[in-house]
Amino acid sequence: MNASLQDAVLHHGDFFRQWQFVLDGSIDLAICDPPYHILHEVHPWDRKIDFAVLSWILSRLLTPLGQVALFCSGKMIPEVVSEFGKYFEFRYPEVWQKPSARVVHKDRPRPDVEFVCVFHRRKTKKDDRTFNWEDIAIQGNSYIRVNRNLENTNLKTLKREVDTNKSGLRHPSSVVYFPNRPAMTEEEKRFAEHPTQKSLAHMDNLIRLLSHKGQTVLDPFMGSGTAILAALRAGRKAIGFELESKYFLMTENRLQHETAQGTLI
Ligand SMILES: C[S@@+](CC[C@H](N)C(=O)[O-])C[C@H]1O[C@@H](n2cnc3c(N)ncnc32)[C@H](O)[C@@H]1O
Repeated sequence: MNASLQDAVLHHGDFFRQWQFVLDGSIDLAICDPPYHILHEVHPWDRKIDFAVLSWILSRLLTPLGQVALFCSGKMIPEVVSEFGKYFEFRYPEVWQKPSARVVHKDRPRPDVEFVCVFHRRKTKKDDRTFNWEDIAIQGNSYIRVNRNLENTNLKTLKREVDTNKSGLRHPSSVVYFPNRPAMTEEEKRFAEHPTQKSLAHMDNLIRLLSHKGQTVLDPFMGSGTAILAALRAGRKAIGFELESKYFLMTENRLQHETAQGTLI
């Protein structure tokens, strides 16, 4: 199922001033790729985000089973988890390993990982939380495996005598590999000249994992509109905000180009 451009509502402006255009309790998944405030000397848009305010706003906008997937660097995690923890429960961090990262200093490794922190509202039941792992799972061979040593247990479940995997689908890992901008194809970069552009494959993966078809995805910091495009392609509705005219127009142009290509209805 493809969505149409009519399923996207794009706002040109500051999310923190305009968020009330979005109905309370209407968002199923917020994909947030905020500025990290490390490039502000070269990119004025890379301002410091107030995560206390962001988490409060999202607590208003999300449905009772709504979830948040927030990109951040390792250094940002303590602040993000502490602020979001007032309204949400931190479920897991996804580790995004990037193929291309330059050495910044000889006192540390190459900064080739970023994180996506996934949150759900407090007190939701485990079985009610959207996690469509089969939709993004890698296909392997099916197997039936006899466990000879049953004493070896993890913390909560006893080992089964026989493990069966009929479908061959592999449960996803917390570590994912998707290109960052320098490693993307020219085709992917063509309509999205944003220095921190995320890959469509990565956004698609998060959106299909953490929301259902027909649901609504919010991107408060859409940049070149990658999450918006991925949401529409995956049959979700999308709402986006972008402060900078240049990037707002880039997103509009990117979606229009997609329509011209006939990918969206
Ligand atoms: C990290 S980039 C997003 C990149 C995007 N995921 C992509 O694939 O192109 C963050 C974007 O948030 C925008 N931004 C910063 N503060 C904002 C605000 N208060 N409201 C809306 N957009 C904002 C910046 O202009 C920037 O384009």
